[in-house]
Amino acid sequence: MKTSASKIMSALLLASVAFCPCANANPNENAKKMKYQLEALEYPYDALEPYIDAETVKIHHDKHQAAYVDKLNAAIESEASFSPDLPLEGLLADLQNAPEKIRTALRNNGGGAWNHAFYWRGFSPDKSQMSEEFKKAVEESFGSAENMWKQIVAAAVGQFGSGWAWLGVNAAGKLKICTTPNQDSPIMGNSVSSCAIIPILAVDVWEHAYYLKYQNRRQEHLEKLWNIINWKRVSERYSRALKENKVSL
Ligand SMILES: [Fe+2]
Repeated sequence: MKTSASKIMSALLLASVAFCPCANANPNENAKKMKYQLEALEYPYDALEPYIDAETVKIHHDKHQAAYVDKLNAAIESEASFSPDLPLEGLLADLQNAPEKIRTALRNNGGGAWNHAFYWRGFSPDKSQMSEEFKKAVEESFGSAENMWKQIVAAAVGQFGSGWAWLGVNAAGKLKICTTPNQDSPIMGNSVSSCAIIPILAVDVWEHAYYLKYQNRRQEHLEKLWNIINWKRVSERYSRALKENKVSL
């Protein structure tokens, strides 16, 4: 019988999401390694104003996130024997089998690349509603959506230093909130993360996510994110995690 951790690991390895190493697909360029891509934003830089300002979105995506992608590819390039052809989710779920020499670089930069892509897609300038299925689960676990958000904010405020707060589905099919330090991610599995969930929403607790507008006011920034959550997507992620045991970007 599989453990809950191995079930989640299997699910992540099987996940068919968009974040793939798509470059250099030309068969004439077989000698070159495939490269992971910077996931494009789904909205303009200023779309999340006034809750996240345009300058923060631009620097956060075009500089910070892009740097994680570049360093991830550089780490892979540096190890001649390593040529992954997995979606990034699969690479991160199987870190223990990556070359030890570059494992930390893959963890930090691969985590940074994937976590940010997932983070941005959890927001939208367009208001949307939770599905009835997800709303019912939220109310069962937290009493109300507002109370759930308070608990997510509290977890994020309580994360010492840099990291992430997550909402996700655990092996029992229940909604859970947890945090990870640095660029660690629930999709890395139990060998790296104690957050044994399939994530459906991420909150970035690195200062670069809010410092330009909010300076040291982390809690104020986090509370404002309530206004731009893409509940339609979070509901879809929830449904897939629950029914298919898979993560969705
Ligand atoms: Fe970030």
